Amino acid sequence: MAKADVPREFDRVARSYELLTGLNPGYRRHLRLSAARLEVPPGGEMLDLCCGTGASTRAILSEHPQVRVTAADASSGMLAEAARRLPDGRVRLLRADAMDPRASGIEGPFDAILMAYGIRNMSDPDRCLENLLGLLKPGGAICFHEYSVTDSSRARATWNAVSLGVIIPGGFLTSGTTRIYRYLRRSVLEFDGVGAFEARLRRAGFTDVRTEPMDGWQRGIVHSFLGRRPEASA
Ligand SMILES: C[S@@+](CC[C@H](N)C(=O)[O-])C[C@H]1O[C@@H](n2cnc3c(N)ncnc32)[C@H](O)[C@@H]1O
Repeated sequence: MAKADVPREFDRVARSYELLTGLNPGYRRHLRLSAARLEVPPGGEMLDLCCGTGASTRAILSEHPQVRVTAADASSGMLAEAARRLPDGRVRLLRADAMDPRASGIEGPFDAILMAYGIRNMSDPDRCLENLLGLLKPGGAICFHEYSVTDSSRARATWNAVSLGVIIPGGFLTSGTTRIYRYLRRSVLEFDGVGAFEARLRRAGFTDVRTEPMDGWQRGIVHSFLGRRPEASA
């Protein structure tokens, strides 16, 4: 599947997506962990890119009760689910291509950006990172909550077992299709290792780059990749 087709595939599973992720122990708590790892001033502005059905947006609202959030996704089906699940008035929901948020009127600048399970789906991750750096205030923080298993044979084995044994069958039972979940397995296996993604972030101009772990079966598999826009690039 081409990366550009991913949002359309999410349209097909949008209505059952929260049911499946709700069965995944740690899914929502780990999103809150990544959101909490972002420093945001009270009253600050945050962007939740690839917000899906709003699970990551709700994580932001719970960890940063004072912020205003713009939440964006390219799947209208996922956005319709997000609209039903998010509190009125606190979130601006937009349809946008995460490769180039400005083209959809997302100007920023933001105090912080969360991109949960998004960067792996970008057709040109370096161009996406360049655009995201430009949306942050100087000193602004970014977190990529993402799978990365390439650096560890144990992580790859666990990921293969969970995706083949649980996620793909669970996806079929909840949505009647396996296409997006088979893509998920493959795209995680093909995504950067931790070291390579950190190097990619530094090359893009982010500073203070570091990686924080999750617990549970996701330890060594899902990570918070953190960075900042340098103060000096104002
Ligand atoms: C796995 S879901 C994650 C949703 C949410 N962040 C969460 O943590 O539950 C990935 C989302 O990325 C969106 N997506 C994929 N490619 C995109 C793109 N180029 N622009 C915007 N959204 C995209 C999909 O539509 C989908 O809703």
